[in-house]
Amino acid sequence: MITLAVSAIEKNRAAEVSMLVNTCVGCHGNDGSSVGPATPSIAGMRKPLFIKAMQDMKSGKRPSTVMGLLAKGYTDEEVEMMADFFSKQDVVRYTQNFEHEKAERGKELHNQYCDGCHKIEGRDQPLFNALSGQWMPYLKFRLSDFRNGDASSSMMASALEYFIMNNESEESLEDLLHFYGSQE
Ligand code: HEC
Ligand code: HEC
Repeated sequence: MITLAVSAIEKNRAAEVSMLVNTCVGCHGNDGSSVGPATPSIAGMRKPLFIKAMQDMKSGKRPSTVMGLLAKGYTDEEVEMMADFFSKQDVVRYTQNFEHEKAERGKELHNQYCDGCHKIEGRDQPLFNALSGQWMPYLKFRLSDFRNGDASSSMMASALEYFIMNNESEESLEDLLHFYGSQE
């Protein structure tokens, strides 16, 4: 009896999750692997990062185009259920239009300035967003937001300030994007 009741609850929950995420996959792609280019993949995103992103976009702390309004429609419990679902999906990394030379330079810059937090090798750093294979136009928007008042991360604000201080040309930021885009 008890097992039956539990499995009925689980079934209901699975149906509820699939109804919730149905709204998201229209933009974020099948199981959260976006076909780009300005909508990020959210498959495999760590739960705490996912929840923080939703909260920051909802409160307006993090600027957004569509997500701020959309996030307002969900309770904390629903966000948690969606975070759980997407964190368990494998991300599909699509081939992007990157230039080899820029990607090579970007790799060195990444290792010097970014890898301490955003590990590329292993791709399993739990505390920071995975950048490899994320859509280049999306990353570009996000980087320029961090520099123009995205208050969601003081760590990123200072990491970029330090980076810009040491690499005066804007091209070096572009090189980083080509490196992330080259990670299929
Ligand atoms: C109309 C298209 C659209 C829909 C529908 C949509 N998103 Fe988004 N999502 C975006 C865009 C575009 C961004 C980038 C931020 C912005 O500009 O709003 C984004 C960003 C995000 C991020 C941040 C990712 C990161 O790397 O920081 C999360 C998490 C997210 N969406 C979750 C969801 C969830 C959960 C749903 C379903 C309830 C959803 N989205 C529905 C377009 C959409
Ligand atoms: C001290 C740690 C740290 C360093 C160094 C760092 N970052 Fe970050 N980065 C973060 C954190 C924390 C976040 C999550 C921000 C949030 O909560 O939205 C982040 C988020 C990002 C995002 C947004 C990803 C997404 O899915 O929206 C990009 C892009 C990014 N970092 C690029 C870089 C680049 C490029 C460098 C090197 C120049 C760098 N980071 C160095 C901590 C760091």
